[in-house]
Amino acid sequence: MATAELAGKHLVLGMTGGIACYKIAELTRLLTKAGATVQVVMTEAATQFITPVTMQALSGRPVYTSQWDARMANNMAHIDLSREADAIVIAPASTDFLAKLAHGMADDLLSTLCVARDCPLLVVPAMNRQMWQNPATQRNVTQLREDGVQVLGPDSGPQACGEIGDGRMLEAAATYEAIASFFSPKILAGRRVLLTAGPTFEPLDPVRGITNRSSGKMGFALARAAQQAGAEVHLVAGPVALETPWGVFREDVQTAQQMHDAVMRSVADADIFIGVAAVADWRADHASEHKIKKTAERTLPTFTFVENPDILATVAKLPHPPFAVGFAAESGDLEVHGEEKRARKKVPLLIGNLGPLTFGLDDNEVILFAAGGATKLPRADKQTLARTLIAEIAKRLPDSSLIR
Ligand SMILES: Cc1cc2nc3c(=O)[nH]c(=O)nc-3n(C[C@H](O)[C@H](O)[C@H](O)COP(=O)(O)O)c2cc1C
Repeated sequence: MATAELAGKHLVLGMTGGIACYKIAELTRLLTKAGATVQVVMTEAATQFITPVTMQALSGRPVYTSQWDARMANNMAHIDLSREADAIVIAPASTDFLAKLAHGMADDLLSTLCVARDCPLLVVPAMNRQMWQNPATQRNVTQLREDGVQVLGPDSGPQACGEIGDGRMLEAAATYEAIASFFSPKILAGRRVLLTAGPTFEPLDPVRGITNRSSGKMGFALARAAQQAGAEVHLVAGPVALETPWGVFREDVQTAQQMHDAVMRSVADADIFIGVAAVADWRADHASEHKIKKTAERTLPTFTFVENPDILATVAKLPHPPFAVGFAAESGDLEVHGEEKRARKKVPLLIGNLGPLTFGLDDNEVILFAAGGATKLPRADKQTLARTLIAEIAKRLPDSSLIR
């Protein structure tokens, strides 16, 4: 989980009355762990769902629930609390509270503080699907968006009331990601990024196949960092069991050929292509239709292999290629092979992993190979490294010529 965007940030976390209040305990833990200061303010209804005592213990700060609270020296919590905030986040945001916000009402501490704010406001709606679909709620949400309020979610799925549909609050981790994303510099705003990540799986028969040890963590971290940097992100993922980063469009594939086809279908729309996937170089030319069985004579199966398409080289050779970035994992002499591979694939930037043992780890050390020379980046966790790499890519993009 990233920390850089939220370290030192001061957030007012406003809680309103809904079942999803239980998710805010975990959200508070994630935000404080990331280095943010969290000042909880609860409506009276919210205190029916989770106690201020719990929220005080998790946030490490006294919780405010009333505008008549005399703890502020000037008795003006509704002004003072928002003045020190980098943002106010309302989570969960009830139907009632969205209506109040849309109409500028100020009849309790939290609503007054929102009207009196001088910082951004983010709301995370949580309600029954009928409440969400109600035309009044939809009008209120449209109004809030027009007023510059960031609306995060809602999610879709099973609800506490037993119904299924839109209106569920984003999970705590997704809410955290969306808040972190809000604070990230938008260095890729308006850019469309196409990425591949993970291994590919080349079948030998219906149950066996050839794959590799790529975990997909680096590619998923880059997808997340690109999304947070303001890009529209399309992630083509090989078989991995990782959660899709918030706000990223994901397409799952198995084989190198499927990955190639998925990339070719979308690359014309991309400004940037990042080939992070460890794509199998070869596949069996005929995978068996049935599971290959041991024979009484113990005859060993034999396979002939054919080459898979080279996705990165194909993208780089397009008549109007996007800014193409490749990854390389070499087992030795990276300095030599990295630059040679970059030149052979004709890409402006190639990122070399220092040692294949990076597979599956949470941190990594890389060398950037570009036309101007090679640069070694310090070892860092993959999320931090992903942000650095996105910054390196962003600063190499020619101004607007790549927005096609
Ligand atoms: C058990 C229970 C669950 C509720 N869950 C929600 C909810 O998820 N979303 C919502 O908008 N309102 C929900 N409500 C209704 C709100 O609590 C109610 O509208 C309240 O007035 C909101 O006050 P507030 O906006 O000041 O916090 C629930 C009520 C009850 C009794």
